[in-house]
Amino acid sequence: MPTQPLNPHLPFGENKQADWYGKDILSVKQFSRDDLQYVFGVAHEMRGMVERVGTFDLLKGKILANLFYEPSTRTSSSFTAAMERLGGSVIPINEVKYSSVSKGESLPDTIRTLECYADVIVLRHPETGSAAIAAKAAKKPVINAGDGVGEHPTQALLDTFTIMEELGRLDNLTVTMLGDLKYGRTVHSLARLLSQFSGIKLNYVSPDILRMPKEVMDEVAAKGVPQAEFASLEKALPETDVLYVTRVQKERFEDPADYEKVKGAYVIDPKVMKAAKQEMAVMHPLPRVGEISPDFDDDPRAAYFRQMEYGLYVRMALLAMVLGKA
Ligand code: NCD
Repeated sequence: MPTQPLNPHLPFGENKQADWYGKDILSVKQFSRDDLQYVFGVAHEMRGMVERVGTFDLLKGKILANLFYEPSTRTSSSFTAAMERLGGSVIPINEVKYSSVSKGESLPDTIRTLECYADVIVLRHPETGSAAIAAKAAKKPVINAGDGVGEHPTQALLDTFTIMEELGRLDNLTVTMLGDLKYGRTVHSLARLLSQFSGIKLNYVSPDILRMPKEVMDEVAAKGVPQAEFASLEKALPETDVLYVTRVQKERFEDPADYEKVKGAYVIDPKVMKAAKQEMAVMHPLPRVGEISPDFDDDPRAAYFRQMEYGLYVRMALLAMVLGKA
């Protein structure tokens, strides 16, 4: 395992662009530390360009199909904004009930249709493994924007970019994940991605019925990363460098009574955060539904709104990489 700190300003490997041209982005398992460094470097350039000129013509003439079978605000609109800031355009399919999906069309057929019109497909779908099925059907690159409880790789990439921007490192961090670790795909991807770094410790704080899946914990353990599980935040908070808060995923519960038992289990507010370090970051993929009090929003440690903005630059970088213009 390399121990050098990641520095987004270092020059990147020469053939990194070629590595990603035409590729699907399905899982964080595809990303090495070098790949991350490359993504962060390009994201930095994208940020500079957005600040200087707003919109530019890197992907002029390219079309993105944004296919969402589940609700989304940030992921969908940030991919749209990313494509448009790069001069490309977007076919938005947010309401699949108004598309041929409602007539019973299969996912592979819908994908084959969209790739006739678009150069890249961004897919969010309720079933784990759906992005891989779509990628198999498509010749054009497919980007996984969340496959059920599986993965959300672009979120984990923007989460790690956020940690770099906020704390300046990805090594030697204690990251505490809080809330719905069973159904939350963002934490499944983030735990896997962070497990490549050295000196990482992962704490999982959740109600018993929402613990981190064994499959993810086994993969993280295989990388030699220490993990600890807690039912309450008290013990884990003082040592935490990144507190990653998640929403209880109501829509994934088989029994609504179970949801009622665990909703509102944790609430982060200024009082709770008194026990935390002064230099640390509180993150959340959003939307929040009560697990972070708005009273905490003005605290400098509250990074969740900045995290959304970083997502734009990371998604611009990913689109440019797979379309060969990074
Ligand atoms: C997350 C998701 O869809 O998994 N949202 C997002 O993409 N920012 C988290 C959630 O819905 O709770």
